[in-house]
Parts: sequence; structure tokens; C-alpha cells
Amino acid sequence: MKEKIRELQEQLTQYNYEYHVLDKPTVPDAVYDQLLRELFDLEKEYPEYKTEDSPTVRVGGQILDRFEKVEHSSPMLSLSNAFNEEDLRAFDHRVRKVISDVEYMCELKIDGLAVSLSYENGRFTVGATRGDGTVGENITENLKTIRAIPLKIDATSSFEVRGEAYMPKNSFEKLNAAREENGQQVFQNPRNAAAGSLRQLDTKLTAQRNLSIFLYGLTRQEIFDIDTQSKSLETLDDLGFKTNKERKVAKDIDEVIEYVEYWQAHRLDLPYEIDGIVIKVNNLEAQEKIGYTVRSPKWAIAYKFPAEEVETKILDIELTVGRTGVITPTAILEPVRVAGTTVSRASLHNHELIEARDIRINDTVIIHKAGDIIPEVVRVVMDKRTDQEVYKAPTKCPSCGHETVKLEDEVAIRCINPTCPAQIVEDIIHFVSRGAMNIDGLGEKFVIQLYEAELIKDVADLYTLKYEDLIKLDRVGDKKATNLLNAIEASKKQPLEKVLFGLGIRFLGQKASRLLAEEFLSIDNVMEATAERLVEIPEIGEVIAQSVVTYTQNDDFVDLIEKLKQNGLEMKQEAFEQESNLFNDMTFVLTGKLENLTRNEAKSRIEENGGKVTGSVSKNTTVVVAGSDAGSKLEKANELGIEVWSEAELLERLGE
Ligand code: IVH
Repeated sequence: MKEKIRELQEQLTQYNYEYHVLDKPTVPDAVYDQLLRELFDLEKEYPEYKTEDSPTVRVGGQILDRFEKVEHSSPMLSLSNAFNEEDLRAFDHRVRKVISDVEYMCELKIDGLAVSLSYENGRFTVGATRGDGTVGENITENLKTIRAIPLKIDATSSFEVRGEAYMPKNSFEKLNAAREENGQQVFQNPRNAAAGSLRQLDTKLTAQRNLSIFLYGLTRQEIFDIDTQSKSLETLDDLGFKTNKERKVAKDIDEVIEYVEYWQAHRLDLPYEIDGIVIKVNNLEAQEKIGYTVRSPKWAIAYKFPAEEVETKILDIELTVGRTGVITPTAILEPVRVAGTTVSRASLHNHELIEARDIRINDTVIIHKAGDIIPEVVRVVMDKRTDQEVYKAPTKCPSCGHETVKLEDEVAIRCINPTCPAQIVEDIIHFVSRGAMNIDGLGEKFVIQLYEAELIKDVADLYTLKYEDLIKLDRVGDKKATNLLNAIEASKKQPLEKVLFGLGIRFLGQKASRLLAEEFLSIDNVMEATAERLVEIPEIGEVIAQSVVTYTQNDDFVDLIEKLKQNGLEMKQEAFEQESNLFNDMTFVLTGKLENLTRNEAKSRIEENGGKVTGSVSKNTTVVVAGSDAGSKLEKANELGIEVWSEAELLERLGE
């Protein structure tokens, strides 16, 4: 039996190589699957013959509890960037100052995740992310599921090979389609999807993601008698690694530029994403002469393609009124594919931007994804403009028709009508959200439904909702009505800090709400506090204090509190509430412009949930939250394979 198992292992390893490395399968998939199943069963029956490099390990199955750190045998450097022909010529100039006769190796810059694979005695032992270049994370078990990575090679010395793990476009499409169907958030691009897949603690999930890899370098080149980068790639081929065959040795920079231009025009034809071209001095001796900076080799450069821009049409400009009355414009677009996903909306940020770019409904526009993630209108295609009317900022609130105002020092246009339905609905949505009263089962749509049915006019009305009224509504059955009433009842006991936060007092975030609640213990005490008294609380400043007093002295607000009291809300703070530990041990970096939260709000929300916020992206960063116009931090995050969230994703995790 040992022999039979070994034979199957070898046969499958060979088929695997032909399919995933050479891209030339010699047997139909069904045959491979059948043999794999057979081997699987045999190894189960005779576990003593299962080897560490058996093809059956490709299906994953290890559940990790965390990723250990690993030090790379030599640093994984990054590359400096070139964005245009001029940058490339300047690079060539610098190179030729040192080496007069130079040849360049041009390689596609795969848009994935840099990894390092260690081989010892011909066996794949450890695989790691790049991390900060010196220390990465051990993702060996995840990498073993990538079938293009040989688990065994014909070499006895120890060395590391380096390359880019990636998700092919078709796998990405399938994955996102499935996620969409399951109501999960889609990945913004194949790179994020690849990074996310490799950081799964359940390696079975990684195995299902269909990742691949291109190797482009190896350490200890001296042992293989390598004198050029071309030879390096050939050696990798000979050892059984998958390299990218779309590569070219260029005689001079003109040939490099030609190659770059060719791929800029043809990149979309490839079955995987590339974000540029890597240009390396081909001769290794020449490389050493040219040398390194601390961060990157001086003998190589990455030419980065400009962000993919596509043309589409603005069908409409949608206006939404936020909780604080700010009216935000969003372009509704003719759906179009850009950088990996279908885009049908793009934030226009504010009306000043619309004016500055002279954006009009029915205009043909160029859009891109900032940092490959956030859709933005770059410019109008003026040649295609016909008789579109100038777009005018709304003078009336789209929800209540009240006149809008523009406050001094603000770019935003606001509706300041306190009875504006859109704002009331947003107020209620905020009140019931997880960070506030935490009324489960009451989402945005349900709130709108209740409001439109005139069952609630303010947050206090939630507490007088009746079963008989709820059950009459569309799509509301016995269970939904009962659950809602139970959740509402339970919320009456929410501590004062949650109520204060839920009331949506301007500038009063979760943290300040807690400070107030802990200081005053009851709503009556809060209502009586003067601004002078409020600023005595450490960390409560003038702005918050003034804002709180403005509310507590407003008759409508006083009435609302009275109504809440009568409806049975306790609004008391007793013991210190346990802080949320949603983001424990996580370090965040915020970058770009956020739409719904200010930087400070985002920061305190993260901190209130146990997370840390720092200013720069490093290997210690867990998540980068990217708003619009995010720049180098987002790029760095991508480079390091750090998880990137949009503001919406952050809010979603915060339960908002
Ligand atoms: S060479 C010292 N070659 O681009 C040389 N990098 O900053 C180091 N990348 O994250 C890199 N394709 O993972 C090289 N053919 C290629 C590449 C490539 C993609 C990535 C690399 C790194 C970034 C360069």
C-alpha cells in the first residue's frame, strides 16, 4: 500500500505541475479529482504514509489561531516608482552614470501580495508575507493550498524564493458574485481579495479561493551560478516554479518605454491584474555596483500605470440629507466596470466640487477609483457636452422643501429645519443603532416604513408602538412585530450614556456621552448642567459643552426627554459599563477624506471599541480606513498587504 500511495502522490504532483505551473494540463479535471479523492481515502486509512508534501495538503484543513512572525533571511525590499516617461529616462540616466552599457529586464508588475517561500533540503518549509520587509507573518499553511507552489523541488541547499501571490480575474469575479448573492460585502479588487484569502485562519477557505503565484526572484543566487535576472527566472523555471513568461530583455530605455506602452494598452487582456511594469538592470554584477538605498534597490524601478479611467454618463445627481442636515450629492452613473467592480454611484463630496468641475446631469464623464477603491468623477468630457443645463446647488431641502443654508466656513449645504423628515428618519436610525439604544431588528428600511405609516414621529414614539399597528404593515408578521417590541422594551434599560449618544447631540460622540453619564448619573442632572459645569469634566471642551447646553435649553428637546421618561426609559448610569472590545489589539490608520465621520469622530469610535489609531502605516497596522483622495498611505497598505476598509465598512462593523 505504501507504494500505491507514493505512486498516487507523485502522479498527482506531476499533474498539478502541468496544470498550475506549465498551464498545460495533460489529464481532464475529472480524472485529477478522482485520483485525488482516491489518495485522500487511502491516506485516511493509512495515515502513516501521508507525507507533508502530499498533494492532499492542498485542500487545507488546518485551523490556525493566529499568524506567527517570521524573519526573512534577507530583507524584502520595495521599489521606487516611476509614473511617466520622464521618470523612466531619469532612472536610466542614473543607472548609466554607473554602468555605461546596460540591459534591462522588464517584468509585469503583478497586483497581488508579495510573499517569500523558504525551501530547505528541497522542501517548502515556511511561507511568509512581506510585512515590514524584515519580519513578515507566517502563512505557510495558507500558501500550501496554492497549487502553483511546489511543495518539493529538486535542490538540496536552503534558500528563499520571492514572488507575488494573486487572484486571477475570473476567480475574483466568481468570488464576488457568490458574496453578493450571500449578502456579503464584495472585495474591491483582486489584490484585496488575495490578501484577505491568505490571511484566513481556516486554511480550507484559502484553498477554495483559487489563488496563484508568479515567482520573480531568489536569494543566494551564487549557489545556482546565476549572473543575470534572466538567468534567475530561467533557474526558477527549471526548479519547477511558476514565473511569468511575459517578460522581455530590453537593450535600452527606448525599448523599455515601448514595452511599457504596449502593456499599458493591453493590460486588460491579461487574465490577472497588473498595476505596472518592473524594470531591473539585468546583470547582477552591475546591480551590485549600482547599489541600494535603505528601502529599495537603485537598480530597479516600478513603472506604475495611471489609475484605470473609464468613461460613463451621469444619469442623475442624488441628494441625501444626513442626520445633521448636510445635503450630500451623489452621481448616479450608467453602470460601468472599473478596476475590478461595477460602479454605478460616485460621491461628488459637496456642491463646491460640482461647481469647480462644472459637472452636469447627462454629462459624459471620466471616472476612476481613488486608491483603486473609491469611485470618483475625475472630469467632464467637454467634447461630448451638448445642451446639458448648469447644475445648481439645491436652494430647497429635497426632503422637506425648507430653504437650505450655507454656514460660514463650511462647504456643505444644509437643511436646518428641525422637523425635516429626512433628518428625523436619520435621527431615529441613529437612536436605534447598535452603539446607542441597540434596538435589534430595526434597520433603516423598517424605520422608514414606520415613519411613513405615521406610527413614529420622533424617537419617543418607538415606545408607544402597538402590536396591532405593527402587524398591519407590509412584510411584518407576528415574529417580526413581537421581536421588535421586545427589543424596544429591553432598550428602556440602556444606560444613560447610550441614550445621550443616541439623541444625536452635535459633537457629543460615544466617549463624551460616557464621560457625561459617569459624571451626572441621571438625565435630570444632565439637563440642569451649565456650560461652566460641563467644561469642568476632563476632556469635555467648550464646543461640546456649548452644544449640550443648546440642546438642553431648547423647549422641543426638553419635551422629548419628558416624553421618553413618561414612556419608561430609565436613563441612568450605574456601574461603569464594560467597554466594547470589538477592535481589541487592532491598530488603525485613517487616510483620505471621510464622508460621514470627521477624523476625530472616527478615531474616538475606534478607540471606544478598544482599537488604536496611529498616523502612519507599518507592519503593525491591522486596518487602513480609506476615504476619498487617499494617497500614499493607502498605497503603502496595499504594498504591505494590509486590510483596507472603506468608511462604510468601518461604520458597518460599528453597527451603524
Ligand atoms: S521585484 C528588490 N518584480 O511590487 C526587488 N516586484 O515594491 C523587489 N511586484 O510588493 C521586487 N511584480 O511584490 C518585483 N515582477 C516583479 C513584481 C514585483 C510585483 C511587487 C512586489 C512588491 C512591489 C515592489
